Amino acid sequence: MTKEKFTVTAALPYANGPLHLGHVAGVYLPSDIFVRFLRMNNHDVAFICGSDEHGAAITLRAKKEGVTPKEIVDKYDGIIGKAFKAFDISFDVFHRTSSAIHHETAQEFFKVLDDKGHFTKETSEQYYDEDYDQFLADRYITGTCPSCKTEDAYGDQCEKCGSALSPTDLINPKSTLSGKTPIMRSTSHWYLPMQNHEQWLKEWIKEGKLDGIHHHDPSKWRNQVVGQCMSWIDGGLRPRAMTRDLDWGVTVPVEGSDGKVLYVWMDAPIGYISATKQWALENNKNWKDYWTGDRKLVHFIGKDNIVFHAIIFPILLKAHGDLILPENVPAYEFLNLEGAKLSTSRNWAVWLHEYIESYPDKMDELKYVLTSIAPEAKDSEFTWKEYQARINNELADILGNFVNRALVLTQKYYAGKVPPLGKLTDHDKDVIAQIKAIPEKISALVYKYKLREAQAEAMNLARLGNKYLADMEPWRLMKTDPVRVETIMNIALQITANLSLVLQPFLPATADKLSEFLDFKTTEWSASGKIDLISADHLTNKPSILFQKIEDTIVELEVAKLEATKKIDTAFEPQKEDATFDEFSKIDIRLGTIIDAEKVKKADKLLKLTVDTGIDKRTIISGISKHYNAEEVIGKKVTVLMNLPPRKIRGVESQGMILMAEDAQGNLSFMCPEKDFEAGSGIH
Ligand code: MF3
Ligand code: ZN
Repeated sequence: MTKEKFTVTAALPYANGPLHLGHVAGVYLPSDIFVRFLRMNNHDVAFICGSDEHGAAITLRAKKEGVTPKEIVDKYDGIIGKAFKAFDISFDVFHRTSSAIHHETAQEFFKVLDDKGHFTKETSEQYYDEDYDQFLADRYITGTCPSCKTEDAYGDQCEKCGSALSPTDLINPKSTLSGKTPIMRSTSHWYLPMQNHEQWLKEWIKEGKLDGIHHHDPSKWRNQVVGQCMSWIDGGLRPRAMTRDLDWGVTVPVEGSDGKVLYVWMDAPIGYISATKQWALENNKNWKDYWTGDRKLVHFIGKDNIVFHAIIFPILLKAHGDLILPENVPAYEFLNLEGAKLSTSRNWAVWLHEYIESYPDKMDELKYVLTSIAPEAKDSEFTWKEYQARINNELADILGNFVNRALVLTQKYYAGKVPPLGKLTDHDKDVIAQIKAIPEKISALVYKYKLREAQAEAMNLARLGNKYLADMEPWRLMKTDPVRVETIMNIALQITANLSLVLQPFLPATADKLSEFLDFKTTEWSASGKIDLISADHLTNKPSILFQKIEDTIVELEVAKLEATKKIDTAFEPQKEDATFDEFSKIDIRLGTIIDAEKVKKADKLLKLTVDTGIDKRTIISGISKHYNAEEVIGKKVTVLMNLPPRKIRGVESQGMILMAEDAQGNLSFMCPEKDFEAGSGIH
């Protein structure tokens, strides 16, 4: 195999929540396996990832948790980065799109395209949420998908069918902020006229040609990827806005763009480039070498990212000039969990950081199971029962059992020394032929991105070894034909040495253990398939157990943990502890009328209210300004908590509290009496 150059990216995870097994199975684990394999073959590889820290995914989460977007991205970038380390995903760099180098890179990129005339500036009517003074794009707006009629499609995309959307495509649009139907307001944006790119995109995706020249082998692209792209292109590409009216993101670097940032799907993929720059800087390399010339760019992504990586980013890369386009975009389908769709908001997920905490010495076990069920061609499902079965029946009973037998018998018969290879039987020759064939099969599968089958092929080597020992029964022959046993054990040890090689991309920690047991290590893939990896008289070590079996109690515990999340709608606080009737009757609640209201200066959440409580007029500071304007609350009859000790808020004494209902999204509502009772009426 000739040495080639690869730049491999794994989709930048949104820093708006922790990683779950779906992310791992469908992006990070396969890309890691692919890269480890390339490295063993001495290809020149850069493996790039980082946190995606802009866009509505972040700001909406910040709003929900009542903190700043910066606090959100710092928190989750930390959790995600730590989990990747513990799970041993071998990125060369894990960067952040909030970094200065990224902002500069993205701005420069935008400028190049703007200078070359690749954008059009257009003014149009866009959805606007009056309550929040904000334009609604992307995840700020949901509605029914015009293609598949799913109800909660986002303003930029339907996650169900993958269609890329504009907010105005949505049927029955609703603001995610206020939940209300938005109004229209005029604004201007920089658009990418994607329709101008249809011709070359078609040729590139279908025939693998770029500017008439061979670029990649289109038969290596997954059907779903080509299918989604073609249906999108055949539906007719339209101009897509590359800027947004938001205050969190990369500032648009041209005149007349106040209050605008780059569209997150323009900014984030450029994050691959800025991450490369950062890495190059730290390692004395030139980033351009990784984005130009005869280098293969491979984007590992989930299927909801297809259009962004196979259409929009390639348009941007080509428009920029002299940057490479992806050689392949291996996209993964979704992983379901115990019969239901994985869902962050419903907490129906197995979180990677929690798994790591519960099972710190079982990383390879999880890797093995996830690769075995990887959703390569269609959606697949993780269950704890299957997790247990695969570990117990395959890792422990086949791989673990074989390795243990081979090494324990070597200790017992030869005090750890590798016996010589003697005369070969036909059976031996057949087994050796199979040992030789397996690495080639694995390799062909990996280059086709069929990692699930590739791992199964690696396991076949363990299966072969296990069966060989079971068929040969050296423990019986030892009494009658010890010379023959030497050959059998030599072959078994060569299989073990080969396993320490071919398992490296998939189960790196296990491969390391095998190397320790054998006191033999090579990372050269080209050595695999040989049956003289360790020579006679080489001294091996005493093995330990490779895989502990998973007890039923673990499965029961994990399933119960998941089931528990079904019963509690985690969006709401659980019921509080009991209070006594006496405690409750101490509380004085009554109706009051708001007779005056003004904003508290420099505190954007607070309103200063004057409330007629029937017995007095008092000042109450209330944190409702995000939900109600001063004007609209005057005259409202509200519920007042009267006998809290007064509290100074922003220098003003607040003499009570307005009681509000809060929904799962954090929206607030006054609690007004159903009948027109007068202020002062008690509430019991
Ligand atoms: N954060 C996106 C997601 O989780 C993926 C971004 S990939 C990039 O769906 F290319 F934009 F960086
Ligand atoms: Zn749809």
